[in-house]
Amino acid sequence: NPDKVLKGKKFLITAGPTQEAIDPVRYVSNHSSGKMGISLAEKAAQKGAEVILILGPTALKPRPHPNIKTISVLSALDMFEATKTHHSEAQVAIFCAAVADYRSETPSAQKIKKKENALTITLIKNPDIAKTLGASKKQNQIHVGFALETDEGLGSAEKKLVEKNFDFVVLNSLLDPEAGFQKDTNQVTILSKNGEKIKTPVLTKDMLALQLLDRIGSILENQKAS
Ligand code: C5P
Repeated sequence: NPDKVLKGKKFLITAGPTQEAIDPVRYVSNHSSGKMGISLAEKAAQKGAEVILILGPTALKPRPHPNIKTISVLSALDMFEATKTHHSEAQVAIFCAAVADYRSETPSAQKIKKKENALTITLIKNPDIAKTLGASKKQNQIHVGFALETDEGLGSAEKKLVEKNFDFVVLNSLLDPEAGFQKDTNQVTILSKNGEKIKTPVLTKDMLALQLLDRIGSILENQKAS
């Protein structure tokens, strides 16, 4: 029963945006609401999984549940540390966070004064959390990723599936008016490492979370059988 198989399983979920300080009052971030990851955490916990939710700065929080432990973080580096700490004990890791790709090379300790003209800030690359942990994924660990593209994006989602060593990746096309940030609904394409491609109907994020958990449940069942 793919529903029961989640009971007692350890989940690690990253969610929300990250915030990269420029100075004590300013930052670089993005529009992620954390909804999808929070929904996954809530539904997994309801099915008996033990969830560690690494949550970037967002107004939303999961409904309190004894099976959810939320660790709040701000920056990508903080999220990376927290995720690394809990990765080895997780059977399932879901990388839902919209991690900022860049951070300021030298965040200023003081508020940067207004200049006459342009201000130049050098941004350097943040670590790729999913890719780094994907490289050390164990046989029995399941990794799930998300890809958000403003075009159809099948090609780049396939590339992410391979490069980040995901078992499956959930592609959100922003082309689609029902998909994306801050929305309650999503229409996605799920690409699996076995080559399967499935386009879902428009679903609420809660319904999508349940579908994704079903899929994870079946992978866990298959692992048990083999
Ligand atoms: O490469 P891109 O950012 O589009 O990949 C998205 C996927 O990789 C998501 O699952 C996201 O959570 C994860 N990711 C990450 N660390 C980053 C960038 C993306 O874990 N620095």
